[in-house]
Amino acid sequence: MADKCVLAYSGGLDTSVAIRWIAETYDVDVIAVAVDVGEEADYEGIREKGEQVGAVESIVVDAKQEFFDDYITRAIAANLTYENKYVAFTALARPLLAQKQVEVAREKGAKLVAHGCTGKGNDQVRFEVSYAALEPGLEIIAPAREWGMTREESIDYANQHGIPVPVGKKSPYSTDTNLWGRSIECGAIEDPSLEAPEDAWQWTVSPLDAPDEPHYVTIGFEEGVPVSIDGELMGGVELVSALNDLGGAHGVGRVNMMENRLVGIKSRELYECPAATIIIEAHRDLESLVLDRETMHFKQHMELKYAEMVYYGLWFTPLRKALDAFMLETQAPVAGEVTVKLYKGRAEAVSRKSDQSLYDFSLATYGDEDVFDQSGARGFIEIFGLPAKVTSMIRGLPE
Ligand code: ARG
Repeated sequence: MADKCVLAYSGGLDTSVAIRWIAETYDVDVIAVAVDVGEEADYEGIREKGEQVGAVESIVVDAKQEFFDDYITRAIAANLTYENKYVAFTALARPLLAQKQVEVAREKGAKLVAHGCTGKGNDQVRFEVSYAALEPGLEIIAPAREWGMTREESIDYANQHGIPVPVGKKSPYSTDTNLWGRSIECGAIEDPSLEAPEDAWQWTVSPLDAPDEPHYVTIGFEEGVPVSIDGELMGGVELVSALNDLGGAHGVGRVNMMENRLVGIKSRELYECPAATIIIEAHRDLESLVLDRETMHFKQHMELKYAEMVYYGLWFTPLRKALDAFMLETQAPVAGEVTVKLYKGRAEAVSRKSDQSLYDFSLATYGDEDVFDQSGARGFIEIFGLPAKVTSMIRGLPE
C-alpha cells in the first residue's frame, strides 16, 4: 500500500497542481485538507475539486469556532500586533491549519504532510515548525519550494493533467483571508514608493467614501474576551464578522506597511482588518482602565515578545504557552464596555465603563470633591528623585 501525504489544500491553482505533483513525484496517496478559518468560500466546491484533481480523499474541517476560542481570544488578550501595525492573522491561523493536518495524518496513518508555501515567506516556517512540534516523525514536502514552476508552467502542468484552471482575468494580487483579516501582496503593491491601488481593498471602503456621520459601537468584554455589541450578547465568530462589516463600511482597518519577514526580506504589505482594529482598540482602552500600572507596563513588554513568537511561527512552544498563562492571569478584571467611534477610517475608543475600574474620581478630580493629600507628594518626590540628586552632587551637573 502506498504511503499517504496530507496536504493543506486551498482549492487554488497551486495546491491543486500540488496534489497531482506530490502523488506522481513521491508515489503517495494524497489526502487534501481544507480548513475553514473564516474565509467565505465555497467549501463543498473546494472539497469536490480536491478529489477531482487527484486526491484519494478530500476533507473540509470547519475550525472557525476553534480559531476564535483558542487563537483570536489569545491574540486579543495580548493585543497582538507585529511591528506596531500587523495583527498577524495569517500567522495566527497557520498553527491551527497544521494542527488539523496532523490530526488527519494521525487518523489516516499518514507519514507525510505538505503545504503549498513558497521558500520566500513566513508561512512555510509556521507550518513546518508546527508539524515538527506536534508530530516530530512526519516527513514534510513543500512542492512550491521544490518544483520552481512559474505561473505559466503551473498552468501548462494543470492543462496537461486535466486540472481546471480558473478562467477569467486573474487577480493581480495574492491574498490570504480569515476571520481576523485579509492580506494583499504582489503586483503593484511591490513598489513601496507608490500608494496602494484602490482595487487592492475589498473589505473596506475608502475613508473618502465612508459615511459623513460617525458610528458609535459599544463592545462588551468579559475576562478580556469580547462578548457583546451594543449590549447584545453574541458568539465570537458572529461578533467578529459583524465588526468586519461595520468597520469596513467606515473604512476602518486598512494597514499599509513595510514589514520584516522572518526569512530576512523586507516586504510591502497591505492588510484589511476592521474587526481586529476595533476590538484591539477597545481592549487596550479597557485595560488602561482596569489594570494596575505595573501590570500594564510589564504586559506591554510581553506583548512585543508575544507578537514576535506568533509571527515567527513559534506557537507550539513552551514560551508562547507561558506567555499565554501570564496574559490570561492579567485578563480577570478586563470586563466592561467600551464605546468606539468609527469615522472615516479611524476607530477611536471614546468612553469606557467597568465594575473593575481602578479610576477613583475623588483622587483624580481637580474639583471640590478632591481627597488626594497633596502634602504627601513632597516627601515622595524627594525620595523618588534622590538618586538623580546624589549623582549630580557626586559626579557634577548633567550636560
Ligand atoms: N506577510 C504576512 C505574514 O507573513 C502575510 C502573508 C500572507 N500569506 C499568504 N500565504 N498569502 O503573515
